Formats: sequence, structure tokens, C-alpha cells
Amino acid sequence: MAEQGFTVWFTGLSGAGKTTLTHRLEAILKERGHKVEVLDGDVVRTNLSKGLGFSKEDRDINILRIAFVAHLLSRNGVAAITAAISPYRDIRDQARQQIGQFVEVYVRCSIEELTRRDVKGLYAKALRGEIANFTGVSDPYEEPLNPEVTVDSELESVDESLNKIVARLEELGYLNPALSSVR
Ligand code: ADX
Repeated sequence: MAEQGFTVWFTGLSGAGKTTLTHRLEAILKERGHKVEVLDGDVVRTNLSKGLGFSKEDRDINILRIAFVAHLLSRNGVAAITAAISPYRDIRDQARQQIGQFVEVYVRCSIEELTRRDVKGLYAKALRGEIANFTGVSDPYEEPLNPEVTVDSELESVDESLNKIVARLEELGYLNPALSSVR
């Protein structure tokens, strides 16, 4: 029987932890025998979306390209994991409609905590007014209204967040059972 594909669509502010969760989830899905591809915002912007900026128009093009590829993968039995800020609700919903087998995961974290972490130094720059249209500081982020999963990187460990995501994927019937439990 062909493997059922699906897309796990991470959304959340820069630095909230989307990429970390993506790679940990990738390993878990592979362990359970799924074919997996990751579409990470920072990586996509160096190839598929090279040259695009951060206006709403450019972000929308970026997200629709990611959705297009995730759809191709999902319908061919691959588990696609995407990790772009994807700040606009209407475009995320468009991705949901297009892909169908869609699991939206909101990675929540407050601006205060992100500014404290500031791994890339971008929040400090944005707060000094040196980056225009920086999401969460000088550009909008529209929280999901009904995501399949919400995780909170301020309150939960990475393992706790992963457990929530895996439990939801099992509940939705997307995930193969853990190998240890079928031995
Ligand atoms: S999205 O809005 O189109 O979904 P995407 O996830 O691809 O964004 O890219 C976000 C990454 O670009 C951030 O993690 C950050 O490193 C970088 N970046 C540079 N400028 C901006 C900006 N103005 N707003 C948000 N992120 C930015």
C-alpha cells in the first residue's frame, strides 16, 4: 500500500524554534519509515525563492512556492515539513486548501523572549529601526485561529513540543506506529 503523504506546516516568528523542531521531527518520521523532505524558509530563500524580499507580495510568492512543492511531495507519499514564518493567515489557508493533508503547527514565543534570545541579532537591529518590515516588530504576524497543534517554546522543552506534535499526527492517522510498539 502506498504511504500516505501529508504536510506539517510550521508557522511562527523568526527564532521561535521552527527549524529546530523541523529537524527533530524529520528524524522521528524517518525512524517510523516515512519518506521526508524539509522545506525551511531560510534554505528556500537561497534557491527556490532567491531574490525575493519581505514585502507582503514577496512573502506571499515565497509561501505559495513552498505550498506548491509541499503539495507535489505530499500527494506522492512524502511527509513534507515546512518551516517559514508564513505570517499571513489568508495565504496559510490557501496552502491548506491546496495541499489537503495539512497539519498546521503554531510555534508560539513572545517578542520579549525572542529579543532576549536574538540568535541572529536581527531583533536588536529591527528594534533600532535598521530592518524595515521585520515580522513581529515592524510587520504583522497573524496568529493561526485553529491550528492542529500549538506549541510554546517559551514554556515547553523541545521534547515536550515534539511529543505534542507526534501525538496529534498519530491522532490524525498520519503516523506509522512507533517501531518499538509493533515488535
Ligand atoms: S516568510 O515571511 O516569507 O515566511 P521566511 O521564513 O521565508 O519568511 O524568512 C524569514 C527569515 O528571513 C528570518 O528567520 C530571518 O532570518 C530573515 N529575515 C530577514 N529580513 C526579515 C524581515 N524583514 N522579516 C522577517 N524575517 C526576515
